[in-house]
Formats: sequence, structure tokens, C-alpha cells
Amino acid sequence: MADLLSIILAAGKGTRMKSDKIKVLHPVAGKAIIKHVLNTLDGLNSKIVNVIGHQKEEVQSELEDLNKWDLNYVIQAEQLGTGHAVKQAESFFADYEGPVLILYGDTPLLRKETIAEFVKEHKQSNSDLTVMTAIFDDPEGYGRIVKDEAGNLTAIVEEKDADSETRQIREINSGVNCIDSALLRDFMANMNNNNAQQEYYLTDIIEFAVTRNKKINTYTVEDSDEIIGINTRKQQAEAEKILRGRIADRHLANGVTIIDPDTTYIDAEVEIAKDVTIYPFNYLEGKTKIAQNTTINPNCKLKDAVIGENVEILSNTIIKESKVGAGTNVGPFAYLRPGSTVEANCKIGDFVELKKTTVKNGAKVPHLCYAGDAEIGERTNIGAGTIFANYDGENKFKTEIGSDVFIGSDSILIAPLKIGDKAKTAAGSVVTKDINSGDTVMGVPARIYNPKSKQEN
Ligand code: UD1
Ligand code: CA
Repeated sequence: MADLLSIILAAGKGTRMKSDKIKVLHPVAGKAIIKHVLNTLDGLNSKIVNVIGHQKEEVQSELEDLNKWDLNYVIQAEQLGTGHAVKQAESFFADYEGPVLILYGDTPLLRKETIAEFVKEHKQSNSDLTVMTAIFDDPEGYGRIVKDEAGNLTAIVEEKDADSETRQIREINSGVNCIDSALLRDFMANMNNNNAQQEYYLTDIIEFAVTRNKKINTYTVEDSDEIIGINTRKQQAEAEKILRGRIADRHLANGVTIIDPDTTYIDAEVEIAKDVTIYPFNYLEGKTKIAQNTTINPNCKLKDAVIGENVEILSNTIIKESKVGAGTNVGPFAYLRPGSTVEANCKIGDFVELKKTTVKNGAKVPHLCYAGDAEIGERTNIGAGTIFANYDGENKFKTEIGSDVFIGSDSILIAPLKIGDKAKTAAGSVVTKDINSGDTVMGVPARIYNPKSKQEN
């Protein structure tokens, strides 16, 4: 049984973002805004209802990996306001007695500790309604918290409905509320859209609760950054900066050296072990993982990369959806495209591009090479300028190279191709046929060559 019912409002388009993509799917620190919001519910044992509308399939697929939670969806076909959005979830609180936590899907900076404390305080104070607020130097755009002389919350007034005096108020509504289910049901039956935007405002519940003599509380968050709502690209960029600062602080506290946190861009879900050193101008994205003692030199971009211990990634390297084993060196100017695995103690040097290629333990591709759809055996050396010609204009083919092979500089290996262990190709060979273990080939196209008799056959 869940301890709580949470409703997340995410049906709106987010017109002010001026985007084809709805607002809550935009990323902050590499993670969709809505996902940040949902992550604040981790550990609360809550039943969750997401109110979705625009691009609803995309929202559902973005949240797919949270399906292990008690995650539910309701559709708000027309966006008639935050109160109307909550109403779409009514079937979930029709028979439920207890607090309903309502969050807006556009506040990615909330901390889960804050949400947990907020819910706890709502329960402990036996309130019917608790509103999370913050004090902003610039409250523009937010609903203002109106209190009476005794300091009791009496209303939330939206910017567009506020007179100039009300606009001076710097305490704002975060959009995070805890509301007793009985009060919420009662309000749902009584709300209206008599306001500047002709919307059903959830915030009208305050004045309604006052008329019903309900116990109303505010909870002012210490760090006002937490409740920045994203309505515009500018706010998205601000949130990005704040979140990146927090992420860098977390890694620094865990023993990672980040030479310049201001120019290091680490996504929310990246994992970095201690004694890793990260030079400036790096982008560590997606679900990248970096093991202990590894160094990332300036100007690299790693996306969904898994990097082992004691690795050195030299400057200007891009690694996407690929793995690099312990003790390996990569770069400068290397490009590991999706599906590549470089095992331990290898060298992938400058201007090397790998695509769907496995480089086994101890192998070297030190410079100037394209390898696609290939397997390169242990301790094999690929000479400079080697091209794995994997594509005939219609189909892609594989190249398999055994262990301890020597590929001479500027070889062209035309797939499909198998090269046996300890084989050799002379510089400039164009290899069109499989090579048996131990054989050496040369020429264009390559013929078998006997180095002892210096004869071709
Ligand atoms: C809202 C609050 C405001 C508060 C601010 C905090 C109201 C009326 N105003 O204003 O007091 O200071 O958030 O960030 O509640 N949504 C729906 N369906 C709708 C309308 C909105 O699902 O019909 C969703 C949006 O997708 C969004 C969230 O609710 O995620 C908030 O809506 P938004 O339009 O951004 O409200 P604000 O104008 O920011
Ligand atoms: Ca908003």
C-alpha cells in the first residue's frame, strides 16, 4: 500500500519555450525536466498520477524506466488550467483518504530531501493544506503569496491578476502543495475560471480553504533556487547552470578532481569514481561511467560511455555508446562511435575512428585509421592509414582479425574478410581475400608473399 498519492501536472505545451517539443521533455543537465521532478519522489512510497496531454506518448516513453513504481497516467485533452488538470486525476482521490502531494512537472531543481521534509511537516502539523513557498528577489511571473496581518496564508494571486501592490510581494508559490483529499474533492466541485486567463487555477484552493476554515500552512524553502519553474529557454539555461554546479559539487565531494567546474559539463546520471581527473571543456553525458584513476584531458565528449580504471583519454576525443577497458589510452582526436569496445591495455591513437568495432586486450591502433564492423584480436597492431572497407555501396560486411597480427601501413582491408593469427600485410596492401594464420601478403590486390624466398605465389 502506498503512503501517499502524488499528482504531477505535465499536460501543457509550454508555449513560452517556442519549441516543437513540449516543455517538460526538454533536458536540464541531460535529463528531461519531468524526470527530475519524478525523481524527487524516490523513496516516498507514493502512488503517482501523471497528468499528460501534449505529446503524451513521448512523456510515457521518457518515463519508461520508472514503470517499476506505481506510476499511472491520466489525459487532460484540453489545457484549461492547473485546477482542471488535477481534476483529471479525480478517480484516484475519490475514495482515498489522506494527503495528496501535487507537483508541477516544470520544476527540475527540487531536491528529494526537501519534498520528503515538506510532506512530513504537512502530516505532523495536521494541516489540511500546505503550500511550499520561496522568497525571490525577482518574483516576476510567479503566483504571489498573500498573507493576513497574523501571517496566515489567505490567497495566491497570479501575476496576471495581481494589482501593483500585490506584485511587490516577493514570497511566491512554488506549485508544490500537499492537500487533504477531502478538501481537494470539495474544491474540485466548486472551482471556477473567473480570472484574467479564464483558467481553472489550482491556486484558488487557498481562498476556498479559508472559507471552509481549514488549517492552512506555508513551508518556505531555504534555497529558493529549488523552486525555479521552467517556462522559457532563459529559465532553462539558469536551471542548467545551477544543477551543473550541484552535480560538480557532488563529484568533488566524492573525490573527483575537476580542474574547472565552470567549464565542465556533467549530466545528472553520470557516475565517476574517486581519483578521476577531469580537465576543462569536457562534456560527460547520458549514463557515462568512469572508473578510478582515469584522466579525461580537455575538450572531450563522452556520451553513454563506460570507461575503465587507469585510462587516459587525450584531448578532442569523442566516445559514444562505447566501452574502454582498464589501462587503455585513447586519443587525441579519436572518435569511438556507438557499439565499440576497446578492451584493456590497448592504444587507440590520433585520428582513429572506430564503429561497431571490438579491439581486444593489448591491441594497438595507434594512428590514422577507420575500422568499422570489425574485430581486432589481442596484441594485433594496425598500421597508420589502414582502412577497413566495410561497405560496398549496398551492404556492410565484417572483418575479423586474429591475435598478434601485423597490418602494414596504408593497408586496405576489404570486407567480408578473415585474417588468421600472426598473419602480416605489407604496407599498401589491398586485401580482398581471407589470409590464413601465419601468412604474409603484399600488393594490389594482395598476393601471398614468402619473405624467405622473396617470392610471390
Ligand atoms: C504556476 C502557478 C503559480 C506558480 C508557478 C510556479 C497556477 C495557476 N499558477 O504558474 O502560482 O508560482 O506555477 O512555477 O497554478 N499544466 C497542465 N494543465 C494545464 C495547465 C498547466 O498540466 O491546464 C501543467 C504544465 O504543463 C506545467 C504546470 O502545470 O508543468 C504549471 O503550469 P504553468 O502554465 O507553467 O503555470 P505557471 O504560469 O508557471
Ligand atoms: Ca511554470
